[in-house]
Amino acid sequence: MQSYTVQPARAIRGEIRVPGDKSISHRSIMFGSIARGTTTIRGFLRGEDNLATLNAFRAMGVTVTDDGETLRIEGKGVHGLQEPVDILDCGNSGTSIRLLTGLLAGQRFFSILTGDQYLRKRPMKRVIEPLSRMGGCIYGREGGSKAPLAVVGKPLQGISYSSPVASAQVKSAILLAGLYAEGATTVTEPHLSRDHSERMLRFFGADLDTFAGGVTLRGGRELRGGHIEVPADISSAAFFIIAALIVPGSELLIQGVGVNPTRTGILDILVAMGGSIELLNQRELSGEPVADLLVKSSRLKGISIGGDLVPRAIDEFPVICVAAALAEGRTVISDARELRVKETDRIKAMAANLGRAGVTVSETEDGMAIVGMERLKGGDFESFGDHRIAMAMLVAGVAASSAVTVDDVSCIATSFPDFTSLLERVAIR
Ligand code: S3P
Repeated sequence: MQSYTVQPARAIRGEIRVPGDKSISHRSIMFGSIARGTTTIRGFLRGEDNLATLNAFRAMGVTVTDDGETLRIEGKGVHGLQEPVDILDCGNSGTSIRLLTGLLAGQRFFSILTGDQYLRKRPMKRVIEPLSRMGGCIYGREGGSKAPLAVVGKPLQGISYSSPVASAQVKSAILLAGLYAEGATTVTEPHLSRDHSERMLRFFGADLDTFAGGVTLRGGRELRGGHIEVPADISSAAFFIIAALIVPGSELLIQGVGVNPTRTGILDILVAMGGSIELLNQRELSGEPVADLLVKSSRLKGISIGGDLVPRAIDEFPVICVAAALAEGRTVISDARELRVKETDRIKAMAANLGRAGVTVSETEDGMAIVGMERLKGGDFESFGDHRIAMAMLVAGVAASSAVTVDDVSCIATSFPDFTSLLERVAIR
């Protein structure tokens, strides 16, 4: 296990750019591979999760070159993928396995998907069930609910599916299958989840309509490749936004961050807590809104977080817990049951870590209550093999009364390979 120790900081200062958006990077490979013509991608996140997606498409005969700056995909067209000769390993990536399951359901070949010990515990029925209704034939462990998954490609029919969870992975898996299905495919969800698939499909010329609460796609049309500029990932920026808010005397500029409204729940939450965050130089890149974020340290106060804010900030809860632990008063998180089926059970993991840092915290079925305090205690903490738990606790470390050690930080490479060096760069001691 590779541990890491961070020392408290006097302030967080500077101008940074965090790596490219993970969700958009996955989709750029997937849609670029099945489009006609060449797709070029700048700002692609070269984290382990995205490289798992890239390797899967290479294994299906797609040529992808990378000069270190621009990725170039020679698209194969909707029906141009080849049967992989081996199992496709999605590593730790839920987005890779769930979206690929949707894409593979309608192919004219057989494939098998697996992942690491964490991914093999995560629920897959949420995609297998709607895909089966479309005519998909997918087998998995534990009655077809866990990876490894075996996908026997079949002709598919469009469906109208009302998803019980607000999940972009479920929605995107169905839309990818819909590209191969006869007729229209409609997905509705209880709250709008991130809409990067809808935006990129439209950018690539798919026949798609969005409406309040859902999306309809008609298959059978070829996609056209193009140039994609991937904005910086707001989920990665979140660690630095909160570090700058909670360490007094901080001021940080984070450049080129994606501010798609389905992802900016974190900004709404932090502003409601009293955080000073300004959006500067707002613009659009490849169909996605982008801004520079100027963050100044602020005295935060506890709030209640639930409802449609939850899917709009779903990946940020580990580090939101850290902000709540240093806010004045109580923060109550509810409607966040999904956190229990992420890379780890993030409610349980953060309750354990914050408790160890001296915070009064109680778990509920669908969230937690956190009573803020002046200063966190340093010491030894666990990542539970989850990149976002590891990074959240290192952010806690810059604001703690003594050093924080996280037991296993190798998982950070899934989404943010240079996280610790960037944190050290902005931490003034
Ligand atoms: C993602 C969707 C979210 C998110 C994950 C990335 C995506 O998962 O937590 O990190 O790229 O579609 P769910 O769709 O399961 O909520």
